[in-house]
Amino acid sequence: MTLAVAFNVETFRQQFPFFQANPNWVYLDNAATSHKPQIMLDSLQHFYASANSNIHRGAHSLGDQATQLYEQARQHVADFIGAEQAEQIIFTSGTTAALNQLAFGLMGTVLQPGDRILLTTLEHHANIVPWQLHCQSKGVVLDVVPLTVDHQLDMAAFSRLLQHQPKVVSFCHVSNVLGQVLPVADMVQQAQAVGALTVIDGAQGILHDTIDVQQLNTDFYVFSGHKIYGPTGVGVLYGKTKALECLTPLLGGGEMIQHVSFDHTRYHQLPFRLEAGTSAIAEVIALGTTLHWLAKQDRTGMRQHKQQLLQHGWQQLEAMPQLELLSSATNNAGIITFNVRGEHPTDVATLLNEQKIAVRAGQHCAMPLFANIHHPGAVRLSLAAYTTQAEVDAAINAIRMAVELLCPS
Ligand SMILES: Cc1ncc(COP(=O)(O)O)c(C=O)c1O
Repeated sequence: MTLAVAFNVETFRQQFPFFQANPNWVYLDNAATSHKPQIMLDSLQHFYASANSNIHRGAHSLGDQATQLYEQARQHVADFIGAEQAEQIIFTSGTTAALNQLAFGLMGTVLQPGDRILLTTLEHHANIVPWQLHCQSKGVVLDVVPLTVDHQLDMAAFSRLLQHQPKVVSFCHVSNVLGQVLPVADMVQQAQAVGALTVIDGAQGILHDTIDVQQLNTDFYVFSGHKIYGPTGVGVLYGKTKALECLTPLLGGGEMIQHVSFDHTRYHQLPFRLEAGTSAIAEVIALGTTLHWLAKQDRTGMRQHKQQLLQHGWQQLEAMPQLELLSSATNNAGIITFNVRGEHPTDVATLLNEQKIAVRAGQHCAMPLFANIHHPGAVRLSLAAYTTQAEVDAAINAIRMAVELLCPS
């Protein structure tokens, strides 16, 4: 076993060329997308420059070599999340695509008219709309777990709603708005006790914690490559073999078939059955390389560093009476969401942008959550392991200046 490299923010940060190219920027929009380490960029470059061929269909050795790299990436991803078999890893174009595959694929197999699906108020649109697309026409009912007054997931309501015996329970691991970390292991256990299949949207959770899908025992776990230092255009749908076998493919064509006639198509076995067309081959390989590299970093040290920054930033912002903080300092993966009282979040973000502080403002693809907490939107600072304390301080100074401009005393 390789020993973990002890975490040092400066050393870690040096591996990301973006920061050398943009020394004047403070990037606090990591929940939207992360920056990329050199090892990931090298992997993309190497594939296209030296190993480019299509996979699983080549009559030539170059194709075999590309296939080998692609399947090795599948193994790296399986190892990273503790999957039992590489065949349980399906490559998609991202979290959204994975959730769309799940919503489409479970309708008519697991979900029948009159059945129920349970979601939470914290969900990103990607874990709402794909279910909605089919619910009405298939007669399936959506239930939603509410929040408590302090914006936490109402776990008593979760247990109560499970008494309706939903067939599918789908929830985020970490809220992309509040940074809140859900008690996913407990939720999986409770959902499975009433016979539901569980889906975890790990778009934000995958980078927060070390995931072991077997220990979690979830039926499905999905995430995007670009939020975990990997490329855009690639994501992962993990499923237990039996759960994956319930899925009707969303996309058809290419190597996902064994036999096609105009009367009937026989699909290939997993994982190919769910990977129609030509995959994002270079991106899959680069994601595998990235996760193999990340597994060797000090992930506990990375998490602790982010937590220190979170506490540091949160305390300073909480002390500013003009601000209203929406996220909490505890049980938070590294997201500070706030509003300047009486001001629109976009105006605040515009002023921060002028000072080269990159944040996100708006409803963060979570409109039902904002409707629920009665805010028109919010400014979001999202931290990463390569974020420095100097950057957080710069952001806080910029927020102070924005407040002085917007609310002169
Ligand atoms: C919790 C959550 N789910 C789903 C998504 C969608 O991810 P993607 O756009 O990579 O498909 C995001 C993106 O921000 C997210 O934060």
